[in-house]
Amino acid sequence: MHFAYLPPIQACFFDLNFYFWQLKTPPTVTTSKLQTEVLAAFHSQFQAAPQVVVRSPGRINLIGEHTDYNEGFVLPAAVNKAVWIALSPSESKTSTWFSLDFQEKVELNIHPAQAQSLRWPNYLLGIVQQFQLLGIEVPAFNCVIAGDVPLGAGMSSSAALEAAVAFAINEWLGTALSRIELALLCQRSEHQFIGVKCGIMDMFASLHGKRGQAIRLDCRDLSYDYFPIDLQGYSLVLFDTQVKHSLADSEYNQRRAACEEGVAILGEKYQANFKSLRDIMQQQVIESAAILPAHIFQACHYVTGEIQRTLNACEDLKAGNLAAFGQKMFLTHAGLSEQYRVSCPELDFLVDAVKNHPQVLGSRMMGGGFGGCTINIVAENAVQDLYEGLKGPYAEKFGRKLGMYVAVTDEGSTRL
Ligand code: GLA
Repeated sequence: MHFAYLPPIQACFFDLNFYFWQLKTPPTVTTSKLQTEVLAAFHSQFQAAPQVVVRSPGRINLIGEHTDYNEGFVLPAAVNKAVWIALSPSESKTSTWFSLDFQEKVELNIHPAQAQSLRWPNYLLGIVQQFQLLGIEVPAFNCVIAGDVPLGAGMSSSAALEAAVAFAINEWLGTALSRIELALLCQRSEHQFIGVKCGIMDMFASLHGKRGQAIRLDCRDLSYDYFPIDLQGYSLVLFDTQVKHSLADSEYNQRRAACEEGVAILGEKYQANFKSLRDIMQQQVIESAAILPAHIFQACHYVTGEIQRTLNACEDLKAGNLAAFGQKMFLTHAGLSEQYRVSCPELDFLVDAVKNHPQVLGSRMMGGGFGGCTINIVAENAVQDLYEGLKGPYAEKFGRKLGMYVAVTDEGSTRL
């Protein structure tokens, strides 16, 4: 385990309305308050102890955005915010699921898995369906779920939920699917049941995270390496716009479609069997500007650049050159905002506001976009002042409270 990267405890007294992650010691999986709450709720709902208890974390992504579904590279890490599930087989044909966060209970028949009007049970149903499609019978089960991954903040609360459910069912039934198989199963569920054509990054990170490490994942063949995150007196700080864009899912699918269209056009031009933008050099995109519709050109230009930038950024990290890494984050943001067009005024404002700050090495929007958080590399002793300086102007301009989290990395899916 690497603890050296952890910032020392700081005197941080933020308004309680804002989230703040514990700095000194990341909670271990055995002492979490949520675990206690989930177990208590399970007991009060079902008057028994659960057979399986699982925790699966949210994630940050250091660099490599919108590259996963283009078979490029990403650099995520699992964090100490997670979804918990406590589960036992049901004694009847009915499954009873209780969400502690929403205080909602559903009673349903999972044979066959059918979409519900409430959103959260669909994340469980989609996973159940994927096990069924593998020919694995999933008996009716009761469960309680709860999480502290902020919803809609770009930290992949839904992937954490899917990974938690898939991991728990795999443990319970002894189906022995590998973590990679489980990640792929979660992704299929998201595509087929939820309807978002997401990449593999979020569920992969939730299942494979390691404390103190980022994962460099090659989304083409799912090979991966762990990279120690040595922050040298800096913190990874997320500023939360508190914007949850309702069009994000459809816009996401459109971006993916634009990339695929680009691959088809370029494949024809170069008479090559390109499978994805991973196969295409940025130079080839530039040479093809005249035949690519403008939005497709921009998308392909951004993605091909970002795939290479992510590899270069990993070298910066290896060399301990956080300043160079941070500069690449700014470039990524510019591409996501101006070319890929998945940012929003709130995200742009937050990145612009820290751009020339001497104690900020890098900043960019993180995740799918249209809201959520920026991720920033900030000198530990400047975090509080930076936040204090940003929150007023942000509230004044957008009428929203700025949220903040200092990211602490943690282990991937774990059975308790
Ligand atoms: C969302 C998706 C991921 C990835 C990111 C953008 O988080 O779920 O697969 O595409 O957006 O990098």
